[in-house]
Amino acid sequence: MSEVEQTLSIIKPDAVERNLSDKIKNIFIKNNLKIKESKKIQITKDEAAEFYKVHQSKPFYNDLCSYLSSGPIIVMILEGKNAVLFNRKLMGATNPINAEKNTIRKLYGISIDKNSIHGSDSIDNAKNEIKFFFKT
Ligand code: CMP
Repeated sequence: MSEVEQTLSIIKPDAVERNLSDKIKNIFIKNNLKIKESKKIQITKDEAAEFYKVHQSKPFYNDLCSYLSSGPIIVMILEGKNAVLFNRKLMGATNPINAEKNTIRKLYGISIDKNSIHGSDSIDNAKNEIKFFFKT
């Protein structure tokens, strides 16, 4: 049975800078993911470090946190059937080189770092990530 879920999506600095936000949002809308909330913000490196703390032991952690805080981002709550997994399918593989045709990262990603978009990878992480950006 498919369930209506919410997931967190972030349009990363490389895509915001290249004015790709509307194109990316249209991909969600066309695929029946509702954009329930959306805001353009810039976060500090400390906030990025907190957001990505699951990756703190990884060699790319410092660069990742510098990058996410390097410019404006758009954070969104997406809602739809199986939204967490479905959004990850629409995004494509983390490294744009490996992403399937017509996925967001294949269309717009530049590199594994500048891969244009982030999406929660599980229902639990989606809840935490939504709380992180949209405290009620
Ligand atoms: P994202 O889905 O936002 O989650 C963590 C990010 O780390 C990932 O996208 C990539 O942009 C970035 N990253 C950089 N290097 C790697 C790597 N070797 N493996 C996975 N993610 C990486």
